[in-house]
Amino acid sequence: MDPKIESILDALSVAVFIVNMNQTIVYRNAASVSLFGKEQRVKKLANLVPNKRCIRAVEDVLEGGNRQSVDVRLQLVVPTSFRMTVAPLDTDGGSTTATVVVSFEDVSHILEAEQMRTDFVANVSHELRSPLTALYGFIETLQGPARSDEQASDRFLKLMEKEAARMARLIDDLLSLSKVQSSERFAPTEKVSINPIIERVSASLAPILDKEQTNVTTILTDDLPEIFGDVDELTQVFSNLIENAAKYSSPGSTVFISSFIDEKEPGTVCISVVDQGEGIEPEHIARLTERFYRIDKGRSRDKGGTGLGLAIVKHILMRHRGRLQIDSTKGQGSTFSVLLPLSF
Ligand SMILES: Nc1ncnc2c1ncn2[C@@H]1O[C@H](COP(=O)(O)OP(=O)(O)OP(=O)(O)O)[C@@H](O)[C@H]1O
Ligand SMILES: [Mg+2]
Repeated sequence: MDPKIESILDALSVAVFIVNMNQTIVYRNAASVSLFGKEQRVKKLANLVPNKRCIRAVEDVLEGGNRQSVDVRLQLVVPTSFRMTVAPLDTDGGSTTATVVVSFEDVSHILEAEQMRTDFVANVSHELRSPLTALYGFIETLQGPARSDEQASDRFLKLMEKEAARMARLIDDLLSLSKVQSSERFAPTEKVSINPIIERVSASLAPILDKEQTNVTTILTDDLPEIFGDVDELTQVFSNLIENAAKYSSPGSTVFISSFIDEKEPGTVCISVVDQGEGIEPEHIARLTERFYRIDKGRSRDKGGTGLGLAIVKHILMRHRGRLQIDSTKGQGSTFSVLLPLSF
């Protein structure tokens, strides 16, 4: 093969094979080696791709058929989804010297994104449907059995208000998430002081802290340098973390909030929210920032949660070029640390 063409084929991220009439590989590019491995003894395409549909497609094209594509999932080091395309190279109506080009494009990330989108739509519909179903139920009762029962009507109207508020909150959180995701590429440009934000948030959460019977102790470093940040978004971050700490710990416990420069990470401001709650099992920790992920769905719902709080926190911190670190010991409590760079 012309060395220039070979260089071009090696520069592609798609795996390319040239296969002859016996389905023997007569050429493979560099990407095919990184995707399928460098197995010297492999002569036949079927040894690398043990899939009947793929082999049949190659046969068809070798026998003079038109270009065709097959979507296939192959068990390589990890299961990988490919779009395989077979195109005639030198077929000439199925002669004995026929060759075809077989390419494999890794489409796993496209399918994953599509799956995430489908899951998200399904989750949102489900989350909206449950308060809506409850509302329909109350409306029916108010139109029927409770029509002239003033006490029951009052009670049902209060419950209906709670369900409607839950739907409104879900929509607000979804809009918040979509807004911060769409602005994620643009980091904040204004300098802000962290401590006043924490103090304001703690004060505004007083009613929730009272309701959950949680005390808050703040230990803020006085001369903390300013960081690049968005006051409203950071308010959302600390509100959710402090509210979670209160909601998911037992009455009478204390939440400690501190701000400091971590000696291990000198260019970073750290704000930690430490609770004395039930703690979180390690298998849940990595998933907490997924949209709608809740350890105990019923409990989160009872407390009016949507399960979007930590997903919003994660995206806000990504926009701030920072991150969230979660450490927890079951039975002892959890520490949610917000790490924000001083400059970027
Ligand atoms: N401090 C904590 N201790 C124990 N579990 C926690 C803590 N913070 C969060 N979680 C768990 O993580 C889940 C996700 O939290 P997240 O803030 O995203 O949602 P939520 O609090 O349920 O709802 P929302 O924040 O929308 O009101 C919670 O449902 C809870 O199971
Ligand atoms: Mg929350």
